[in-house]
Amino acid sequence: MKIQLLSEGSPPPYSLLLLADPSKELIDNYLQAGECYIGKIETAIVGVLVLIPVEGKALEIKNIAIDPNFQGKGHGKQLLRFAEKIAKQQAYQSLLIGTGNSSVGQLALYQKMGFEMDHLKKNFFIENYEEPIVEIGIVCIHMVMFIKN
Ligand code: COA
Repeated sequence: MKIQLLSEGSPPPYSLLLLADPSKELIDNYLQAGECYIGKIETAIVGVLVLIPVEGKALEIKNIAIDPNFQGKGHGKQLLRFAEKIAKQQAYQSLLIGTGNSSVGQLALYQKMGFEMDHLKKNFFIENYEEPIVEIGIVCIHMVMFIKN
């Protein structure tokens, strides 16, 4: 997969962004504040990554998604390694990523990639999303924040 910055004027790949975050409003907010990268295989956009600077010299992965037809093949790990490379190049001290308490696969993936659990954004999903989110029978309530230095 070839990763590149989304060209100015090109439409963001909402179908992928919405896989990671059901709120288009929140997506539009962080697209304005950060940089959107796309992952391409031949001419198809199969991955997306949004990075935004946050206080305290940290870079946060605000959105990461791979087209379901291409998941489980290492492309998500490739995007995470790319985000680490950008954070190092731009001299950020740490890289952050958050996921819901119910997102078991993502909780596994980020720890496999060397991220450590840092803190909870308590009630984040209750307070920021109108519809309840339930995954594998678990209600998504808190955002689990991970850090990699
Ligand atoms: N238990 C243990 N490991 C798990 C797991 C589980 N329940 N679910 C996934 N994993 C592991 C896989 O085994 C694999 O690790 P391995 O290579 O060591 O076996 C790893 O997680 C997945 O790696 P990869 O193939 O690179 O990921 P991907 O291309 O499928 O992309 C996502 C990962 C999360 C980006 C992708 O699934 C996605 O787009 N999901 C929908 C959007 C989303 O949820 N985004 C994140 C929001 S926080």
